[in-house]
Amino acid sequence: MVPIVSSDGCHWGPLEISLGSDVLTEAIFGNLAGIRAVITGSSSGIGRATALEFARGGADIVLHCRHSVESAETLADEIREIGRSVRLCTADLAIEEQLEPFVTRAWDCFDGVDVWVNNAGVDLLTGEESQLEYGAKLNRLFEVDVRATMLLSRMVAERMSQAAGGSILNIGWDQADRGMAGESGELFAASKNAVMGATRSLAASFAPRVRINCIAPGWIRTSWGETAGEYWQERVKSETPLKRWGKPEDVAATARFLSSPDANYITGQVVNVNGGAVR
Ligand SMILES: NC(=O)c1ccc[n+]([C@@H]2O[C@H](COP(=O)([O-])OP(=O)(O)OC[C@H]3O[C@@H](n4cnc5c(N)ncnc54)[C@H](OP(=O)(O)O)[C@@H]3O)[C@@H](O)[C@H]2O)c1
Repeated sequence: MVPIVSSDGCHWGPLEISLGSDVLTEAIFGNLAGIRAVITGSSSGIGRATALEFARGGADIVLHCRHSVESAETLADEIREIGRSVRLCTADLAIEEQLEPFVTRAWDCFDGVDVWVNNAGVDLLTGEESQLEYGAKLNRLFEVDVRATMLLSRMVAERMSQAAGGSILNIGWDQADRGMAGESGELFAASKNAVMGATRSLAASFAPRVRINCIAPGWIRTSWGETAGEYWQERVKSETPLKRWGKPEDVAATARFLSSPDANYITGQVVNVNGGAVR
């Protein structure tokens, strides 16, 4: 593994082999050829799968995490093996002062950004925030999932509007509008409804230069789903018409479509990726 750490928080890897003409690249890779994409929170779970899916689609990738640098470097190696260029930026999105410098660093990695995915989210169930009190969890969700998503969307959309335009994707939650009993249900409903609502307004603000959409995942098997007990395994199956957990790759495939030119007439939408659950 090649370390790609530098002192300024932007982690540089070597440039990758060029495949020659754009036509050849597109023929080999598909609908994201030539796209420069930033995926926040891409050290694990849905963000990781999205980075790989975008790279397979021909995009060059800026990875981001808060402090899981080792996992991100492993992913960077996989992306290089696919044949795409990759960089890594770190930033704690709970800290507002880190947002603008992060956008500048990420933008400069490939001299512009065509696609930005606000995927980073607080892991209340298995992450360090699981130890916080209810009120502190709520604050952290609003700092990271809501405030950072909205501020980053605005900063990036302003830049894209001045450049060639682009696409921004946010991440909500399919149960946010109907509600789910319990502490996590309350907390995620509040924060993810905010993200989904803000997405629609941001899309209106920045059209027609920038498309802004949101994916609302259902039960996706990431770190919590892998360890959840029998009750949850049964509940997920019974609540999901397609009778299985979603995979991070299911969300990534939708993210690729919404970020590609194939979705050029789609903006301001919240797309459920939830196995058909209506609950
Ligand atoms: N999994 C599901 O079933 C599900 C369902 C609905 C919605 N979602 C949403 O989908 C997104 C991805 O979920 P996931 O389960 O794949 O997440 P995950 O595996 O827990 O990964 C979370 C990512 O966000 C980053 N992150 C967390 N706090 C951060 C902070 N303060 N500053 C910067 N980065 C931070 C993490 O970086 P570090 O590791 O460096 O901290 C990590 O890369 C989240 O927005 C989540 O709310 C997930």
